[in-house]
Amino acid sequence: MQVQFLGHSALALHHEGHTVLLDPFLSGNPALQGRAIPALKPTTILLTHAHADHLGDTEALSKQHRAPVIATYELGVWLEKRGCPAIPANMGGRIQQPWGWARLVPAFHSSSCEGEYMGMPCGVVFEVGGVTFYHAGDTCVFSDMALIAELNRPQVAFLPIGGHFTMDLQEALKAVELIRPDVVVPIHYDTFPPIRTDAEEFRRQVEAHTFTRVRIMKALDTWEVELPARQA
Ligand code: NI
Ligand code: MN
Repeated sequence: MQVQFLGHSALALHHEGHTVLLDPFLSGNPALQGRAIPALKPTTILLTHAHADHLGDTEALSKQHRAPVIATYELGVWLEKRGCPAIPANMGGRIQQPWGWARLVPAFHSSSCEGEYMGMPCGVVFEVGGVTFYHAGDTCVFSDMALIAELNRPQVAFLPIGGHFTMDLQEALKAVELIRPDVVVPIHYDTFPPIRTDAEEFRRQVEAHTFTRVRIMKALDTWEVELPARQA
């Protein structure tokens, strides 16, 4: 079970020949400038919303690899019309996949593409390789993060910390207190000037106030995830 951070909000999770790709903003991603974009063969693409810094290379990768895209209904239908094998869905139940499952959960944000409304934005909880992850998408903090955590018990959370469009450090610390994951990986910061922040300060704050460990990943870093088995 390997997590590969692709910069900004983009992640690839590799497990037993499957690749789960989230928010694949690769071409034009400032965090990857001057770097070779890794060749990715996604099994499934998970999308939190339609903004360009998340939709990214979804259409090309989905078509090239016939990878289904799980997204909120309006965005999924829009992708289908463009020839992608999408799975239009919405917040609530689990969507089973060959590698595990995904569940769309609320996020407080917006979702549009070139001025067209693309349905609700969301976060996504998913399980792969026996580990449960929560990618919050773009969002402010909200108290129902505690409900998402109670129902899904994510061990790893990917949380935006860059502010301006999403949570800043203060809000993201509160989110960690609500979610209580074993590990939090900060995302969606330093990519553009308005979202510059101090991830090391986030680490200090979280590790001073909670039992969660902070894993700061640079673009293209990989992490072999080994977490203790969860108690029943
Ligand atoms: Ni956004
Ligand atoms: Mn964004």
